Formats: sequence, structure tokens, C-alpha cells
Amino acid sequence: MNETYLLSVQHLSKSFPGVKALDDVHLNVEAGKVHAVMGENGAGKSTLMKILIGMIEPDSGNIYFKGERVAFHSVHDAIKAGFSMIHQELLPFPDLTVAENILMGREPVVFPGWINRKKLNMASLHLISRLGVSIKVNRKMKTLSVAETQMVEIAKAISNNAEVIIMDEPTSAISQKEVDILFGIIKDLTARGIAVIYISHKMDEVLQIADTVTVMRDGKWIATQPASGLNKEALINMIVGRPLDNIFDKKSVPPGEVLLSVKALSGDYFSDISFEVHAGEILGIAGLMGAGRTEIMRAIFGLDKIRSGFIYIKGKPVRIKSPGQAMDLGIGFISEDRKETGLVLSSTVRNNITLGALSICSNNRFIDKKKEAKIADEQIRKFNIKTPGRNQVVNYLSGGNQQKVVLAKVLLRNPEVIIFDEPTRGIDIGAKAEIYKMMTALAAAGKAIIMISSELPEVLGMSDRILVVREGKISKELKAEEATQELIMEYAMV
Ligand SMILES: Nc1ncnc2c1ncn2[C@@H]1O[C@H](COP(=O)(O)OP(=O)(O)OP(=O)(O)O)[C@@H](O)[C@H]1O
Ligand SMILES: [Mg+2]
Repeated sequence: MNETYLLSVQHLSKSFPGVKALDDVHLNVEAGKVHAVMGENGAGKSTLMKILIGMIEPDSGNIYFKGERVAFHSVHDAIKAGFSMIHQELLPFPDLTVAENILMGREPVVFPGWINRKKLNMASLHLISRLGVSIKVNRKMKTLSVAETQMVEIAKAISNNAEVIIMDEPTSAISQKEVDILFGIIKDLTARGIAVIYISHKMDEVLQIADTVTVMRDGKWIATQPASGLNKEALINMIVGRPLDNIFDKKSVPPGEVLLSVKALSGDYFSDISFEVHAGEILGIAGLMGAGRTEIMRAIFGLDKIRSGFIYIKGKPVRIKSPGQAMDLGIGFISEDRKETGLVLSSTVRNNITLGALSICSNNRFIDKKKEAKIADEQIRKFNIKTPGRNQVVNYLSGGNQQKVVLAKVLLRNPEVIIFDEPTRGIDIGAKAEIYKMMTALAAAGKAIIMISSELPEVLGMSDRILVVREGKISKELKAEEATQELIMEYAMV
């Protein structure tokens, strides 16, 4: 056991039915450093972290922490030993206040059973303000934004005297400004000697924040290198196993007829929205997080109420009151939040894929089970979904592979107007290139594509035309040729 490492993982293996999620993996983490873990969707990153935090137990292998062998049988064990994990989508205690959540189980008491609220609030306020952010500690957890929830979880980790803090894709749902704040906090944490394990698919961020990068593929350790010696190309090579030239392989086609248009559309979070999108076109929607981009699309798709304004499909006015109606009119919506509107997590890959398209799978009035299975298998292959089979429960797929199921499901209905909301969030670089290729092909086949994205390179690389949304209004329309990152930001900033 090498004493220079705070944490050393050796020969770790873990199998699930049909999958070897971890295969003889090792990981050496130093105190006071940021260690990034990268790799394709399903590579085993989250599984490794879940073992470190005591959520699941390995089949074999050893974990050494401060020179001693440890084995956690519960999250509580791991936290007590000095580990913390910032989960991205999990909100375990929605009804607790910020203060209660931070000091859970360690609340200051007046006498047994009687919590000293004033002390509780003061202590948690102190912890929050040490991070340099301001969040009212009497707010309920469920009212916080993703970024605020992360800050609270970090404050909680610090108060638990965490020595290793794991962050699993922490920046996938927060704005650039919030990323900057988070990175400032990470610098503070490492300056205090805390080790941060940082999982991400974002090359630029990893190169900026990490000291060391470990790459995994198919459950195996591939390489560990100092970040200073790496660039994007080298990283892609390590992750995908081959170079990827030209990730955005966009070829524009002459635009056809207008498939969807909206006039003076207003809702709760946006007003006076007018635009059109043509067959063969990819219309990028840029803007800051919270600008109202998703809300506009939700309203068009019948998920939220429209206050006033008009929607036209191929020039004909339509009223859309539900997603079912929108889909019947040929609109597909690949939602940003796959858990909310995209997937039935407790159901199988096959059911999720075919659910919206039962007519394709049925013979007369009966569902043709064989046909359904065949279609599911085709989609699994086409979208390269990593699963032991069509009958796997979606909840057990890795994050990125769940996103691919959403794509497979929506596109199976063959919609003419396809709304992609943050289509590559949580998607690995290789699969990203695949999705871009698919979008280009869909546009070339005469579909109209609307793509909301917070990733400017993606907006610039894929769009034929760009709308910038600011505070619920379209602040600018840009042609692909004239658009630059700076110009988009100028119109996106408030
Ligand atoms: N509880 C489980 N039951 C069955 N299979 C599982 C379970 N948890 C993970 N897996 C499988 O183990 C493999 C590794 O998954 P993991 O979530 O660790 O990947 P990941 O590297 O985090 O991917 P992503 O970038 O998509 O989040 C995947 O094939 C996944 O489907
Ligand atoms: Mg994961």
C-alpha cells in the first residue's frame, strides 16, 4: 500500500446480472487534488463512486483510506469515515430546511429531543457563507435550484469533515456563472487538503479544474495521467480509443416548407415569441439557464399552458392541449429532464422504447410481441444503447444510456418536427458525435429540428439559424455564418 495516497482503490470488480460494471479497476487519489474520472456512458464511473460512498458493495478488491483498509456497508459508514458525495439529481429530503439538511443528525439541542433552532440556523448559515454564497437557511430543500442544492450538499460535506468529496457530473445542469462559483469552491476545498473526485464528460472543464485524469472504458481502467500533459485530442483518444475528427459533421441542406411556426406566443415564463422552422433546418435556441427556453418548448408540446398566441403546423393553426395531441400532429420532444417527461424508470428498455408507438408494433388490434421485441432490438442497436438486453429495467442503465433510450423512443414515432432539449447532456464524446450525425441526417431527410442547448460549441456547430432567448423573450436571431460565442453571449446576458 502506497502511503502517498489518501485513497487507493485496488483490483476492484463488480458485476450486475449481465454486466461486468467494474473489472479490476484501480484509482489512486491524493489529498488536496482534483482527480477527474472520465469515460464513455456505461464505463463504470458511477458504480465505482457508489462503492466508495457505501451505496453498493464490490464483489472483490480493496479500498485503502489513509493507509488502512476500509469496507463500507452503508452510506452512513462512508460519511463517518470522511467520504461525501454530491449527487446531481437526487433530492433525498425535499421537505427539510437547508439548515436541517446540513446538520441532520447533529442538530444542536436545548435538552434531548428539543432542537435549538437559533443555533441550528446560525451554525448552518456560517457553513453556507464560508462557501461565499448566500442561501437562506430556512428555505425548504425542494425550493432550491440545482446549483443551490449542490452548494448546500457541499456545506454539509464540509460540516461532516469530509476528506474525499465525490462530484458526479456536477455541472451538467448549472449555468456558466454557477460553474465558476463551483470551481472557486473546489479550489478552496483542495487548498484545505480535501480530495475531490470529479466525474464529467466535459473536456474543457476537466482540463481546467483537474490535477489528474483517470479514464475508464467498459468497466476497465485505461489510463491515469496528469492533466497538465493532456489536451482535448489526447483525452478523446483515451476515452473513445481512437481519434474523432470533426465531431460536428454538419452539412446544410436548402430549407423546405415551414413545418412549425408560432406567433406572439405567451405563457407564464415567456412572452411574445414568434419564429418559424423549415423542413431541413436545425434551429438552435441559445440563452442562459432559466431564460425560458425549455418553457417555450414545453408550451408548444402541450405540457404547459399557453396564455395567448398561435401555433401553426404547415401553415394550419392548431391548438395543442396535451403532449398526445402534439405527438399526433407530428411533434417530438426529447426532454432535458429525462426523469420527468422522458422515461418510466421502473419499466424495461423495450417498453420505454415502444410505449409511444404501439401502433407500429401492433397487428390489427393486438400488440405483436415479436414485432415489438424486434423493433426494440433495432433501436437498441441503432442508438448503441448499452444494456444486457431489451428487458433490462431502465433504472439500471447508466445516465447516458437512459438518455439514448429517450432518443430511441421519441424518434421511433417518426416525428416531423423534433425538439431536442439539451440533447447531449450527460452523453459521452463518442455518442455525442453519433447524435450530431443523426440530427444532420434527420434534417437532410426533411425534418425540422429545434435544438435548445447551453453548450455554445454545439449551438455554433449544428445550427443553421440561432435564436437567442433572454428573460422569456427572443433577444436576437442570428444566421449561422454571423454567429460567434461572443455575439450569442452578448444577447443572452441580462
Ligand atoms: N444496479 C444496477 N443493476 C444492473 N446494472 C447496473 C446497475 N448499476 C449500473 N449498472 C450497469 O453497469 C454499467 C456501468 O454503469 P455506470 O452507471 O457505472 O456507468 P457510468 O460510467 O457512470 O456511465 P454514464 O456516463 O452514462 O453515467 C452499465 O452497463 C450499467 O447499465
Ligand atoms: Mg454515471
